Amino acid sequence: MFSKVVKGSPALLSKQYGLAVLCREASVWEKVALGPPDAILGITEAFKRDKDPKKMNLGVGSYRDDNGKPYVLPSVKEAEKRIMAKNMDKEYAPISGLSEYCKLAAAFAFGEDSPVIKNGLNASTQSISGTGALRIGAAFCSLFYPFSKDVYIPSPTWGNHIPIFRHCGMNVKYYKYYDKKTVGLDYQGLMSDIKGFPDRSLLLLHACAHNPTGIDLKKEQWKELSALIKKKNHFPFFDMAYQGFASGDAINDAFAIRQFVSDGHQVVLCQSFAKNMGLYGERVGNFTVVCKDKEEVDRVMSQLKIIIRPMYSNPPVHGARIVLEILSDPQLKNQWLKEVKGMADRIISVRKKLKDELGKLGSSRNWNHITDQIGMFCFTGLTPEQVDRMAKEFHIYLTRDGRISVAGVSSNNYQYLASSMHSCTK
Ligand SMILES: Cc1ncc(COP(=O)(O)O)c(C=O)c1O
Repeated sequence: MFSKVVKGSPALLSKQYGLAVLCREASVWEKVALGPPDAILGITEAFKRDKDPKKMNLGVGSYRDDNGKPYVLPSVKEAEKRIMAKNMDKEYAPISGLSEYCKLAAAFAFGEDSPVIKNGLNASTQSISGTGALRIGAAFCSLFYPFSKDVYIPSPTWGNHIPIFRHCGMNVKYYKYYDKKTVGLDYQGLMSDIKGFPDRSLLLLHACAHNPTGIDLKKEQWKELSALIKKKNHFPFFDMAYQGFASGDAINDAFAIRQFVSDGHQVVLCQSFAKNMGLYGERVGNFTVVCKDKEEVDRVMSQLKIIIRPMYSNPPVHGARIVLEILSDPQLKNQWLKEVKGMADRIISVRKKLKDELGKLGSSRNWNHITDQIGMFCFTGLTPEQVDRMAKEFHIYLTRDGRISVAGVSSNNYQYLASSMHSCTK
């Protein structure tokens, strides 16, 4: 059809050949403005363009082994082998996903002995990883949380929290979290903000490994916060994307959520298996509403399904099958927990190497926060200008808030990173 030159008015051509491309009339989409690139993906693009052999991408939020390579956990490979051997079908999952998976995922978070699990008080649904769990949770709260359309989130927080809640019609407000002066937690600010909010406010809490700061509350601080939230009748909305990955101990990382439940809070919880099982691309997560009784579980489940159905109908099965295979076999689960600890320990040891190296180089700054923080991300305290210098002079790419993904640091490059940080902060 394109081998000869076609003549005629654009409208006629469009009618004759269905060639909308030839039509010079205004496009329906001409008012669509070019949006800004995603902050993290923009860094990856700049990193890819850089030809320097010493370049480092510290923006990405996925684990790398000590050779800088993506890591598929041996327990995950074993689970996949078992799934293949079962020769399973590819039928649709139910709207709320694989029910046995949801049960085990919730038990992993709350604890098998938790009254929530023992009495079946969890309305749980499989989700498209942690992001999907947040999206379901935000939609559910927007529709059914009876006291307010405001949600309070820490400042700073994971960037995606803000549009997720806004897209669901919630007003996003902030509570103090980070103290620039100490590169640590602004505990006084946090407590006084939460005290000052109207009663029955909805609060988003990072259960462990706060992203982007890597700064968590200590156990005693969680207890005090729980008591304050109880007193104010606030509602805790937990995001737990890093259970096990933070400290290397899945029970320790679930401390906050379990403390809140034992203090009598009716929580909601978002979980992700992206980081702790390395299942980033499989998109497997879980969303739970803790209910008063079984009858409430049924009501809440019915509404969760009504929310999910027009979003994506039902979730993918492969990732959930992997998690199910691992969590349902005590031996494989044990192996997996050791592998999670291995990942967490590598991150913890790299933090120490980086801090010690900065000391050896004679940096007069206090870098204790590098080892005080936890999880994949480290808030270095570098200013946006220093971050720009890191990229321009040293080919090291990180987000402009000074956050580095420790997962991208290895025994081969921590010294180069330390000397570059030292040069930029002298
Ligand atoms: C705090 C927090 N919540 C949720 C997520 C969701 O991740 P995913 O959708 O990959 O499970 C992330 C990922 O970086 C995160 O850092």
